[in-house]
Amino acid sequence: MSNMEANSNNSIQISKKRKMSGDTSTLHLDGIPLDTLSEVEKYLEPFRLSLEKLKEVSVRLKKDLIRGLGKHSHHRAAVKMLPTFVRATPDGTEKGDYLALDLGGTNFRVLYVRVVEEQQKVVKMDSKICSIPQEMMLGTGEQLFDHIAQCLGEFLESQDLKGQTLPLGFTFSFPCEQKEIDKSILIRWTKGFSCSGVEGQDVVKLLKEAIHRRGDYDIGSVAMVNDTVGTMMSCGYRDQSCEIGMIIGTGTNACYMEEIKNVKRVEGEDGRMCINTEWGGFGDDGSLKDILTEFDEVVDQTSINPGVHTFEKMISGMYLGEIVRLLLVKMAEDKLLFKGETSEALLTPGQFETKYISEIEEPDSGLENAQKILTALGLNWDPVDACVVRLVCDTISSRSARLCAAALATISNRIRVNRGLDHLKTTVGVDGTVYRKHPNSDKLSRKRSYVSAIQKHREV
Ligand code: BGC
Repeated sequence: MSNMEANSNNSIQISKKRKMSGDTSTLHLDGIPLDTLSEVEKYLEPFRLSLEKLKEVSVRLKKDLIRGLGKHSHHRAAVKMLPTFVRATPDGTEKGDYLALDLGGTNFRVLYVRVVEEQQKVVKMDSKICSIPQEMMLGTGEQLFDHIAQCLGEFLESQDLKGQTLPLGFTFSFPCEQKEIDKSILIRWTKGFSCSGVEGQDVVKLLKEAIHRRGDYDIGSVAMVNDTVGTMMSCGYRDQSCEIGMIIGTGTNACYMEEIKNVKRVEGEDGRMCINTEWGGFGDDGSLKDILTEFDEVVDQTSINPGVHTFEKMISGMYLGEIVRLLLVKMAEDKLLFKGETSEALLTPGQFETKYISEIEEPDSGLENAQKILTALGLNWDPVDACVVRLVCDTISSRSARLCAAALATISNRIRVNRGLDHLKTTVGVDGTVYRKHPNSDKLSRKRSYVSAIQKHREV
């Protein structure tokens, strides 16, 4: 039997098996000889989560959501379920001039937003991006907030706005215990940040202090939100049925509108409140142990926050590239790739960037991209290696997408049960670099893999 026949037979068998296990993603199997494929499968199998397993994960998350909402259980809950004090999504009549700050990844954005109701919701925007150098992410809180205040100052200067005191919306994409809309205590840093003197402090106060230290401009009232909440609100501005916001970017998280009577630590019985789930922390109490692989354990142990944000570390952009790198190193060391050789770059943490995964999964140029990337990483590859690397990337991003889909199913089911409705159309506002950049890798449906996995979430 030629390799081609062996491949196609094998790919049929594998996809049948996957169909039965609920994994209907279309993996890149072409170009991998049967014997190599069966060896490679041994490494990838632990990353394949069956529909049954995803359903179990969803049931566990459901319990954790309830624990996080409880008056006496929320302190110990892995999924924090933070009240946001946002009680409604926009109704489209909002207007005015605002400043907006967005801090959540390696970039920091300042925006000047004009919402003009009369002109059919035209939102005019000017913006500036400032990078946050790695040293600053690990430096002092004072340095970080001085940098933010400086960036904002330069932007106001360029827009000729220094004389005005505009209200400011601050999207701060880290877990915060919101006391009021302008008082928000950082619970802990995530996503590679660990600036000293900020955890346990009111982030709005730290921002205002940095602005006052400069003394050359001032800001008006501040409203602080998580990026999931901002995403839900901006989606809700156009679509009233948007009640969930989800981010799959450097980190991952979701928020949704919960009935206030279920939010036991907030007074009141009527109406709804947006809850920032902080689902990235799911599994921090060991509840996901059965699906963690040895590679996930290494990613966790070598991160700057071991034991924390377990779910996020299986899903988000900060970690996906590193999982792939660790797999490639192991497969090369076991003589399954690159003629048994590694390279200095491949052995260096962080050198396999998450964006490579999307590039390698591009439907048309993916293999060519893989070859360029492997060459740039100093690896001695052959065409089969490039195909195997593509399959590894596909497996890791599929697991990420399917876990997000399972978690999203848990939340939308909860909204449905809360309302006592079997069928309820809920729009989900989604954002984040991983979601946006991931290519059309599902050959069957010709849809983005995140989109198709998420659309299939009703199966869970
Ligand atoms: C943070 C969340 C944020 C998410 C997406 C996580 O690391 O804890 O607050 O929403 O990243 O940016």
